[in-house]
Amino acid sequence: MNDTTTRKRTIRSFVRRAGRITPSQQRAFETLWPVYGVEYRAELLAFEQLFGRSAPIVLEIGFGNGETLVEQAAASPDRDFIGIEVHEPGIGHCMLKADEAGVTNLRLINHDAIEVLTHQVPHGSLSRLNLYFPDPWPKKRHHKRRIIAPSFLELVADRLADAGTLNIATDWANYAEHIDEALSQSDRFRCRERREHDGEQPLDRPQTKFERRGLRKGHRICDWCFQKNS
Ligand SMILES: C[S@@+](CC[C@H](N)C(=O)[O-])C[C@H]1O[C@@H](n2cnc3c(N)ncnc32)[C@H](O)[C@@H]1O
Repeated sequence: MNDTTTRKRTIRSFVRRAGRITPSQQRAFETLWPVYGVEYRAELLAFEQLFGRSAPIVLEIGFGNGETLVEQAAASPDRDFIGIEVHEPGIGHCMLKADEAGVTNLRLINHDAIEVLTHQVPHGSLSRLNLYFPDPWPKKRHHKRRIIAPSFLELVADRLADAGTLNIATDWANYAEHIDEALSQSDRFRCRERREHDGEQPLDRPQTKFERRGLRKGHRICDWCFQKNS
């Protein structure tokens, strides 16, 4: 058997979008990546060293253009934030916003969040994981790409500290059903709060770009806070 036949095909929760990077986002990679960027390496991160202090760690997967992430970091200077995204224009935008806001409690990783969680995030190290408007993959044949799956929930439960929370939001009714089902089948989490609304009552988070897009299409929003079982 050759290498191609033995290599396991990985199903990822994203496709890299072509989106053009603007000159200012490109410059942000040159000047601000040394400030905010953390390189992906298959070795554990030491958060205390990374931030120069010990504080609760909040990790956000798929932060998009990062405006919500920067707002949260600015509003919670007593916590440290890690954002993971694969869309480079979004990362550039996020660094420009972070610089404008002068936040120092934020670091970004440009890589697949599953690999980052698996190889870089230590066991029991996160106080909270935010997953806001994950790609819904609405077509049935693409459901296997949805990030919320039993193996993902196991991985998140392992990386959260005791009583840590997994906070999710979606504007896709069919994904909301999938999330309710996946989480009710997991014995690692219990639902602390579930809220359906029309954009006016997000659960302790700022509104996001994709949320506004969903609302313009007339979608209802569903927000959850799941707590890790001890
Ligand atoms: C629908 S967008 C939502 C963006 C943002 N959270 C918002 O609400 O505006 C989903 C984002 O997740 C990112 N994403 C999907 N799977 C990912 C993964 N495995 N690792 C890192 N980013 C991922 C995509 O690149 C995309 O920007």
